Amino acid sequence: MKFNVLTFGCQMNVHDSDWLIRAMESRGWKAVDESEANIFIVNTCSVRDKPEQKVYNILRRLGHLCTSPGDFVAVGGCVAQQIGEGFLEKFPYVRLVFGSDGIAKAPQYLEELAVDHEKRLVVNDFLAQYPEREGGLADPNEELLPPGIGTIPGQAFVNIMQGCDNFCAYCIVPYTRGRQKSRLSSAIIDECRALVKAGIREITLLGQNVNSFGLDKNGSDLSFSQLLYKISEIEGMERIRFTTSHPKDIAPEVVKAFGELPNLCPQLHLPVQSGSDNILKKMGRKYDRARYLGIVERLKEACPDIVLTTDIIVGFPGETDEDFEQTMDIMERVRYESSFSFKYSDRPGVAAVKMNPKVSEEVAQKRLTHLQERQKQITRECLEELTGKDMVVLLERPSKRQEAGGVSWRGKDSGGRVVNIFFEGSDETLQLGGKLIKVKITQSKNHSLVGSKVGDPW
Ligand code: 5AD
Ligand code: SF4
Repeated sequence: MKFNVLTFGCQMNVHDSDWLIRAMESRGWKAVDESEANIFIVNTCSVRDKPEQKVYNILRRLGHLCTSPGDFVAVGGCVAQQIGEGFLEKFPYVRLVFGSDGIAKAPQYLEELAVDHEKRLVVNDFLAQYPEREGGLADPNEELLPPGIGTIPGQAFVNIMQGCDNFCAYCIVPYTRGRQKSRLSSAIIDECRALVKAGIREITLLGQNVNSFGLDKNGSDLSFSQLLYKISEIEGMERIRFTTSHPKDIAPEVVKAFGELPNLCPQLHLPVQSGSDNILKKMGRKYDRARYLGIVERLKEACPDIVLTTDIIVGFPGETDEDFEQTMDIMERVRYESSFSFKYSDRPGVAAVKMNPKVSEEVAQKRLTHLQERQKQITRECLEELTGKDMVVLLERPSKRQEAGGVSWRGKDSGGRVVNIFFEGSDETLQLGGKLIKVKITQSKNHSLVGSKVGDPW
């Protein structure tokens, strides 16, 4: 069967789609461009804006491509979890709807639907346990790639948990991804070990709130910091990252790990959301700016080179100019190297829908533009400070922009910054994906660095 996967949303969704593609390819299906496909899988996101409308528009478009009786569309992800049956009622060619926990079984259902053209299914129940997915580790008789290997050479993502218990006032995730479910630490460690054996050099541990890993198991399994230490010990493990972290759950042991574990990358995404105590309280974030800044201080003490990034919402209900100034102030104090910032948007069923007064679109946009302008400057300044420094880069793929006389490759340093390196005299036959290389930074740009190679790649 020829299939196409369209992905929206966060890293978890990208990872889910990668896994689904591999799972289907291992069953003999072929991932192709949309124009050649018979089966279309849309992995949706509902965290912001007007996602349902967007998905409906895409489904209408895909409907025109379902021309033979066996052609159909499957909808997965957070919007699928929310709308469920509604998709089957609205679109005759949608024959599978699968939510967060349903994805584990999606390959099997896709196969069934490809054979039985009458069948239509909704798989939206939340399960009590983390649904382990098929892969090389689950079935030793099948020769599959280990489950975490995605599309970037040398790098892999490993899910360590699903769902979230925090119910921040603006967020729909607890409703679409369900309650927190940690995976068994032994399964995670086995997966990481297999990935390293297969040549993976960098592993990113994924979850909605990785720092509360294990808390749903009443201490019967490892804590997140213990898990980090165990993974760090795996022979050949060169780089570990993790995302996303809730500030309220960062344990002192995790802060310490940044100072102690040589293969834990000096990079942390620590969503602050707002710098105002008043707004943080309304958001239900369970920390205040003093506590957040304390964590940042201790992180910088443990690991002076740490690269901090964040998420910020502007225009949350009731946000005043003073509240917004506090957010600008926290940006100045932390000096995030980059940030994702958003205008607050009402999501159905979340607590903030009922909070007033709403901030006007105009004011929210003004605040967002102001914040993003300042972030641009800080990012530039942070990157400028790196010129002349030596760093190790994990190479990913040829750069988008190429020059004559050689070939340029793009990779990331341990802080997660994009670095482009020019290999003079080489051409596009040069294969460096997944290799590490020492470089000296020669130039900084708005969002990336340029380096020249110091030694040979390994
Ligand atoms: N409106 C705006 N931004 C939101 N986010 C989550 N929910 C909303 C919302 N309703 C942002 C948060 C979160 C990121 C993934 O998306 O900043 O950290
Ligand atoms: Fe989107 Fe959040 Fe769901 Fe990820 S978890 S797909 S960001 S709604």
